[in-house]
Amino acid sequence: VIPAWTGRPIVLVGLMGVGKSTVGRRLANRLKLPFVDADHEIEDAAGMTIADIFDRFGEAYFRDGERRVIARLIDGKPKVIATGGGAFINDQTRALILADALSIWLDAPVDVLVDRVRRRDTRPLLRGRDAGAVLRDLAAKRTPFYSLAHLRVASADAPHENTVRAILEAIG
Ligand code: S3P
Repeated sequence: VIPAWTGRPIVLVGLMGVGKSTVGRRLANRLKLPFVDADHEIEDAAGMTIADIFDRFGEAYFRDGERRVIARLIDGKPKVIATGGGAFINDQTRALILADALSIWLDAPVDVLVDRVRRRDTRPLLRGRDAGAVLRDLAAKRTPFYSLAHLRVASADAPHENTVRAILEAIG
């Protein structure tokens, strides 16, 4: 039996700090597929960092660029794509992903995420703010959207290897 996802890009969605990039890279390795980080593609296309895009042009402009980059990456070729935490919240971006990719929501309790993002705080939505409060707020607002993903996989455990294994089992 050919699994339903075969040939579709696998798109990882979920909150900041949940491990989309790390898990995505390892999953791609295991599946022998290319890995693409959508945030890096956006930075390459814009020639500046995500923080600079937010500062200079605002979040709406960033979301539009994010949608265009993800539309380009979902090209019918199998690969693993890590998205930024807000990509799947945008109605148009989510529609693209749901139509032509296999979306996997990596889900972890907010406390775990707060611990992880404290180690790297270049994210524009967290800079100079209480990461716990922001993430709790985002989790409440975004969970209804993440729930629309094709699959949900728990990502609370370190090392991320457990998450990779859970995804491989889920997509069998
Ligand atoms: C964002 C998450 C970031 C990045 C941008 C906005 C968000 O990606 O796209 O800072 O809205 O949650 P990560 O989830 O990879 O940190």
